[in-house]
Amino acid sequence: MGSEAGSDAPPGESRMWEFASSFPRQLKEGLRSVPRHNFAARPGVPIATVGMGGSGIAGELLSSLAARGGESALLPVRDFVLPAWVRPPVPVVFVSYSGNTAETLGAYEQARARGLPRAVIASGGRLIELAKEDGVLHVQVPPGQPPRASLGYLFGALAGILREVLPEVDRDLPRVADGLSARSEEFSSDSGLAGKLATAWGGDRDLWVYATDPLLPVARRWKTQAEENAKRLGHFDAVPELLHNAVVAWDAMPKAEAQGRFVAILHAAGEGEATVRRVDYLARSLGAQGAKVELVVPRSRGALGEMLELVWLGDYVSLWAARRRRVDPLPVPAIDKMKVALGGSAPRASGGRKG
Ligand code: F6R
Repeated sequence: MGSEAGSDAPPGESRMWEFASSFPRQLKEGLRSVPRHNFAARPGVPIATVGMGGSGIAGELLSSLAARGGESALLPVRDFVLPAWVRPPVPVVFVSYSGNTAETLGAYEQARARGLPRAVIASGGRLIELAKEDGVLHVQVPPGQPPRASLGYLFGALAGILREVLPEVDRDLPRVADGLSARSEEFSSDSGLAGKLATAWGGDRDLWVYATDPLLPVARRWKTQAEENAKRLGHFDAVPELLHNAVVAWDAMPKAEAQGRFVAILHAAGEGEATVRRVDYLARSLGAQGAKVELVVPRSRGALGEMLELVWLGDYVSLWAARRRRVDPLPVPAIDKMKVALGGSAPRASGGRKG
């Protein structure tokens, strides 16, 4: 069985597979959708990005790239409250696919009160209305998809807004996206890497994802996709930090318990000998405890390609896992329920279009 959903497939499955396959195209369209602008992002001045869940991860991914080769630090914020040091001239970019997420709207109001330079990325909602009222740069991405399945649009648009401080991402993204497209058949084939990793993970256990520091946001994305698509908890942590704490718990774990766990370790070529030694040490230690360990190394070269390839691979791993578990990857009723209970975007339909 390949990417085609079977006749007894859950109703949302084929849509989620289609959204996943559009990731490279979304990246290019997102970048292209940014109008010429004079946003206040300036080399040397830090920038805050605000967003939750499937929207917030765009800022976190770009923050890791900025740390390695950008002209400014990016600080991802996932809360109503901006840190105290975020004051003029620090600009803030708000990312909310629905445009109605309570935390993101709260931080927007705060930024407005502080007189911060602002930009907005959303498919619609209150955030776009506010940006229009305030005459703030806004990029409107296509509506009608779950936020987490729209990461390509959001990432591309954010890269375009931040092009002054991430010039290499702006320049390389179309080429990298084209390179990714070549992997689509493999990722969506049963016998490909994503399918194999989903099999190794297995249907009924949590996913553990460890990653070297630059790839930590990718590990978080694997975790959140495991949770929202496959409906199974995920856990993530960073190498080398976890060698200073988590290994103690692994070491003390009864073998029978460790044997029931699957750990994916994400790392990239060219990370330096010290990091490679630590990844190998970790893999050997966990393996000796009986855990099932897979080292996952991207084929792409360059920080941007490595990161996006692993993001996309993780998306497919979660979809394969959902299929194997026979759960529908599309709806996220617990998030819909939370938004109704606490305020924020209410779901339009149980199909999870806004979830
Ligand atoms: C659902 C998803 C969620 C949302 C989050 C914030 O597909 O990914 O994690 O991203 O609830 O909502 P938005 O993205 O609309 O601001």
